[in-house]
Amino acid sequence: MKILVLPGDGIGKEVTASAIEVLKTLVPDLELDYGLIGGSAYDETGSPLPKETIEKIKKSDAVLLGAVGGNKWDKLDHTLRPEAGLLGLRSHMQVFANLRPVKIFKSLIGSSTLKEDVIEGVDLMIVRELTGGLYFGKPKGIETKGAIKRGFNTLEYTTPEIERVAKIAFDLAQKRNKKLCSVDKANVLESSRLWRETVEEVAKAYPDVELSHMYVDNCAMQLIRNPKQFDVILTENMFGDILSDEASMITGSLGMLPSGSLGEGKGLYEPVHGSAPDIAGTGKANPIGAILSAAMMLKYSFNKADEAARIEQAVDKVLSRGIRTPDMTAGAKEVVGTEAMTKHIIDEVKKK
Ligand code: IPM
Ligand code: MG
Repeated sequence: MKILVLPGDGIGKEVTASAIEVLKTLVPDLELDYGLIGGSAYDETGSPLPKETIEKIKKSDAVLLGAVGGNKWDKLDHTLRPEAGLLGLRSHMQVFANLRPVKIFKSLIGSSTLKEDVIEGVDLMIVRELTGGLYFGKPKGIETKGAIKRGFNTLEYTTPEIERVAKIAFDLAQKRNKKLCSVDKANVLESSRLWRETVEEVAKAYPDVELSHMYVDNCAMQLIRNPKQFDVILTENMFGDILSDEASMITGSLGMLPSGSLGEGKGLYEPVHGSAPDIAGTGKANPIGAILSAAMMLKYSFNKADEAARIEQAVDKVLSRGIRTPDMTAGAKEVVGTEAMTKHIIDEVKKK
């Protein structure tokens, strides 16, 4: 099992190191390779996604990424920014379906800003289209006409792009609670009208899955009002970006949320959080999002669902003892840093 680790920037380095330590305790034949991405790649090579990194993907079975970005690179041309490296990687790997599970750990209920009865038992999955939509549509740019500048992007989807991500979402729903809510803005946007029509078509092959549609503004509200109504949420790239940050707050901290991106080839796994330059290097980062991303890798890329469950259970155990990182201190018995949290989780994994 060969994994390419792309730590990236800021706390990405710290949290991927934690995730790898956890993987090592469960996978004896783990082979690791390391590559550059994001701002640190730009600093060393002049590109946020160097050719060597692309080459390394070919030689590995899956990719584990930390995070990219930081104010240091904010003034760069947008094609050289750390985020461009990440988007280039997702596009290159054609990982069009980004799975972002939002599951509440019982012991973290007090860390959420939402009321206990609203969030208790939440277990939903956001399937975000990841290689199309506004992030990639052309034309895009900023043009100048006289004294006026105009910035523009294109929101477009084709039927094959919608079909392939919808199939993944329906397959997941079939294995879960058989409910799929497709989120769009079909009352305003043409791309959303096509999205809705196409999802309806795909649904015909899944008669056992109950399909509903929701406008994105309503979904943003419903996620806070009653998140338990959702099982699988399927949505386009930009809506999924926004809704998944919102949904992370149900779990108490953005630092908790993992993600896995699937396509026809290799999987890409990364925590939902960013590079958090404000706490990078302080040893305070919450490694759980990255550790749970590694668990998703075991499950989705290597068919090791049991090992993945062991990691999830270990995280649950440690949290239930009141051990917390500084991003989620409500109800904490002991606040620890990245390394100590990782060690606690590894000790639990080893116990079985
Ligand atoms: C995410 C991030 C990225 C995105 C950024 C860093 C480009 O916010 O993975 O959600 O917008 O997709
Ligand atoms: Mg985001």
